[in-house]
Amino acid sequence: MADGSAIRGVIAGTGGYLPVRAVSNDELAAEKGLDTSDSWIVERTGIRQRHFAADGETASDMGLAACRAALAQAGASESEVDAVIVATATPDSAFPSTASRIQGALGVTRGFAFDISAACTGFIYALSIADAMLRTGQARGVLVVGTEVYSRILDWSDRGTCVLFGDGAGAVFLRVARDDEAARGLLSTHLHSDGRHGDILAVNGGAGSTGGTGVVTMAGREVFKHAVTKLASAVDEALAANGLGHDDVAWLVPHQANIRIIEAMGRKLHLGLDRVVVTVDRHANTSAASIPLALAEATRDGRIKPGDLVLMEAIGGGLTWGAALARF
Ligand code: UT7
Repeated sequence: MADGSAIRGVIAGTGGYLPVRAVSNDELAAEKGLDTSDSWIVERTGIRQRHFAADGETASDMGLAACRAALAQAGASESEVDAVIVATATPDSAFPSTASRIQGALGVTRGFAFDISAACTGFIYALSIADAMLRTGQARGVLVVGTEVYSRILDWSDRGTCVLFGDGAGAVFLRVARDDEAARGLLSTHLHSDGRHGDILAVNGGAGSTGGTGVVTMAGREVFKHAVTKLASAVDEALAANGLGHDDVAWLVPHQANIRIIEAMGRKLHLGLDRVVVTVDRHANTSAASIPLALAEATRDGRIKPGDLVLMEAIGGGLTWGAALARF
């Protein structure tokens, strides 16, 4: 508990996992026979490479590795985990949930585990749910995970989407703040969706409709326009809700879909790219995993320091979008 009156969740540890195999734009084009070029992909998206899971490597395998790293960084043991919440669009199976598989592999035998579906905004949604559970006393320690194997749901004949995504996992361990941590913690989360725009970024099949998995489809230009306006209003909302301004933000950790969208958000917040965590060049778009992967990288290399105010934002299929503010 932070101040004796309000319970606050602290991001006590972060962890990331990337599959071993990194594939450059040129390698991808050659391997899949795509009519594209490294220069088009770099200029339009900032992506230079992505990682792809090995045969048989699943969202739960990658999520488990990210969770272990997050617990290790937090100095926490499995016995402190009350809940596992996984955001994924690429679960190992409809059930058991990917979260249940991770819980089982961690050897956690109490509490609860479940998946949520909010596409690229999934991590922000999962963080919001975890925060609410801490504040209402349903849990004291929650693993919040984003893990994705988009390489299994891409249409390799659609150069407009298949070059954009990669595989990976990220996790944070969110626990109740201790008495000496009054200044730290998750300040607020802000969730939005507008189902009228569901078709502009979608997976065109699923267990309950086609019986299969389907592939990613996207009206890129339309999504781009929504991204710039909706993310701008979400970050304004998060700062205003806490009486903070852009000067207070130490780091922007955005969803990593396109460097042009990331730069637009940086400009909006008057933050140079030296205060924005960018991984899209090396990871591509790992959907729900992109923010926790970026957090893991920037806390390990010392960019994000204790006390830093970190602003996170994401948009994805649904449409879903949102933002979160946390003091590390
Ligand atoms: O994570 C969820 C959120 N997702 C996003 O935020 C993604 C938002 N959208 C985008 O990032 C961009 O719209 C894209 C990167 C997907 C596309 O960039 P764009 O500048 O909007 O390009 P475009 O779709 O308008 O296409 C421009 C041209 C087209 O050719 P024509 O019609 O002008 O002759 C495309 O066919 O580029 C062509 N094109 C490609 N050319 C080479 C599309 N994909 C490729 C490709 N290589 N991979």
